Amino acid sequence: MRILARGVGDVKRAGGGYNPAMVEEVRTASPAATYEFGRHFAARLHRGDCVALVGELGAGKTILVRGIAAGLGLTDPRMVSSPSFVLVQEYPAAVPVFHVDLYRLTDPSAELGGLGLEEMLASGVVLIEWADRAAGALPHRRWQVELTITGKTARHLRIQPPQD
Ligand SMILES: Nc1ncnc2c1ncn2[C@@H]1O[C@H](COP(=O)(O)OP(=O)(O)O)[C@@H](O)[C@H]1O
Ligand SMILES: [Mg+2]
Repeated sequence: MRILARGVGDVKRAGGGYNPAMVEEVRTASPAATYEFGRHFAARLHRGDCVALVGELGAGKTILVRGIAAGLGLTDPRMVSSPSFVLVQEYPAAVPVFHVDLYRLTDPSAELGGLGLEEMLASGVVLIEWADRAAGALPHRRWQVELTITGKTARHLRIQPPQD
């Protein structure tokens, strides 16, 4: 794993001062590296945080979720898989982890709206795969993580912290 750049999206605001929310760009060369990145990234998450995961099929969203859940204290990360029939899975980590996958939904915004995001955020961290499918229903305050396939085992991750 290599940190390519920090502060790429740094925004200087009128009135002085910098936006502390810096965009981070990371390249991983293996699934294990993406998992490890997730495990370390978890240290930056707290109860009430939402992470929107965007990227095509096979980009590594689920592997990243597995790493994040492990980093948040889930003892058996094998529990993390792409849910086929359930919209949301809750993992018992130090902070509860809610794993949402909008891939198979026909009306993702409506179904996400009916999930009780507020309740989930009140008790834990919410990780949403295919978040772009329900863009209008996502909390305004969220982490945005975009994964791009750049090679057979290479991925590019762009991590944007909440803009608040
Ligand atoms: N650098 C990498 N990071 C993550 N996954 C990778 C990487 N290189 C290859 N892969 C493979 O890509 C696939 C990612 O799967 P998954 O995490 O389920 O993707 P998604 O949830 O985005 O559809 C896995 O088969 C994994 O082995
Ligand atoms: Mg997935």
